[in-house]
Amino acid sequence: MKNSIKLSVICFNILMVVIVFIATILLSRQFITLDKILSLNNIIVLIVLVILTAILSTIIVRSITTPLKKLDKNMKSVVSGKILDTRHIKDCSNLREIEELTNSYSQMLELIKKNHFDLNSQQSKTEIILEHIADGVVAFSINKQVVHINKPAIRLLELSNSEDTFEKITKKLKINVNFDEIVYLSNYKSIETKITVGENVLNIIFAPFFSNNLIPMGVIMMVRNITENVKLDNMRKEFVSNVSHELKTPLTSIKGYSETIMNGNLTPEEVEKFSKVINQEANRMGRLVSDLLQLSRFDYQKVNFKKMMFSIEDLSKSVCEKMKFVASEKHHNLECIVTVAPPKVYADKDAIEQVIVNILTNSIKYTPDGGDIKLYVGSINSNAYIKVVDNGIGIPEKDLQRIFERFYRVDKARSRKMGGTGLGLSIVKEIIDGNDGTIDIKSVVDVGTEVIITLPTKVKV
Ligand SMILES: Nc1ncnc2c1ncn2[C@@H]1O[C@H](COP(=O)(O)OP(=O)(O)OP(=O)(O)O)[C@@H](O)[C@H]1O
Ligand SMILES: [Mg+2]
Repeated sequence: MKNSIKLSVICFNILMVVIVFIATILLSRQFITLDKILSLNNIIVLIVLVILTAILSTIIVRSITTPLKKLDKNMKSVVSGKILDTRHIKDCSNLREIEELTNSYSQMLELIKKNHFDLNSQQSKTEIILEHIADGVVAFSINKQVVHINKPAIRLLELSNSEDTFEKITKKLKINVNFDEIVYLSNYKSIETKITVGENVLNIIFAPFFSNNLIPMGVIMMVRNITENVKLDNMRKEFVSNVSHELKTPLTSIKGYSETIMNGNLTPEEVEKFSKVINQEANRMGRLVSDLLQLSRFDYQKVNFKKMMFSIEDLSKSVCEKMKFVASEKHHNLECIVTVAPPKVYADKDAIEQVIVNILTNSIKYTPDGGDIKLYVGSINSNAYIKVVDNGIGIPEKDLQRIFERFYRVDKARSRKMGGTGLGLSIVKEIIDGNDGTIDIKSVVDVGTEVIITLPTKVKV
């Protein structure tokens, strides 16, 4: 375009010179002979005219091409992503048309600048949201390349840099989905699936995304970690099944024995024996229901611990005395030993009494007859502690981490036979947590178990 303007202006000027020259010849031929016209003077005049024309044409060409060149340079910068100022190209031409063109261009540039700013801020907002949400998001272009992936997606899907296409990612995750089906055949519906990656259960949703005029642009993959929900769901199911089972067993005995009694033909001794069983099973159900109610109160935070300062030494000694009778039934040697006089503790006295009874009951239950059970009470690092040590059957290492779960028992049959429901330690844990204490269990199978509890000695403000 630049060359064509220059060329056409020069050609136009030369043409004008030639026309003027020929016209001069034609007009002068009537008065002057051809020899005179082609005289040296006239040839010089012609050359001067041509030079003047060339200079004139260069000036005209420059006045048009210089602003156009600047405009062109500016446009190229815009195309390459830089938004430039138009002020310096506004004043560089006196031609009205060029000025109008520059003005229109400036307006257009202002609009582009504004849109560019809006787009940039929108994009950075979206990027910040995507980086800070817990869910993973992967965007694939229509040619199946990853165009955006946030950190949670990389972490949850355990992806490496080389996994950068739809095919590679779905193959790695063993998800059987077809890209084209999601984009073209699913009637714009999303496809949902659940997978397990490492220790996590993930819910994956694939959905197509479109341009303003509904042209498919690619696929978005959303990744949500549902491990906790699945765990809670399983715990809920397990809990319901445990409660039903625990209630069904005594109910079956109560029903069976009561029917036998109702059928008659029993000796008074048999009636007494069966009635005792019915009574025991009813008590067992009663204990279970009251344990469940207590746990449910913890869950709904309906328990208000009545905290006060009291002597843990006195409480431990008195519980030990009360439990001696139960321990003696199994010929255990139960002792309360004060190591260092402990400071007073700040907790709910009745609840802590329940904790000590529960722990000692376990030691009595799970220690073969004639065992040694010691309750140490003392102070360590200005904290008060209680430690119950037995030389009973112990708890296998693998079970130790689950011991505070509701209904968890190492040996269900054995524990049930001893009247246990597997709720004792979960209640103990709730009480200790609610009183700002700590509890730890160490155990070795066939050697014994050690339960250590610490309690705060200061009023918590
Ligand atoms: N001192 C211990 N020695 C060996 N095993 C123990 C001891 N204390 C607890 N356990 C194991 O931990 C399990 C859970 O104890 P927990 O007190 O919660 O329930 P439980 O004693 O079975 O029933 P509950 O206390 O509700 O009557 C027990 O079933 C038992 O297997
Ligand atoms: Mg118990």
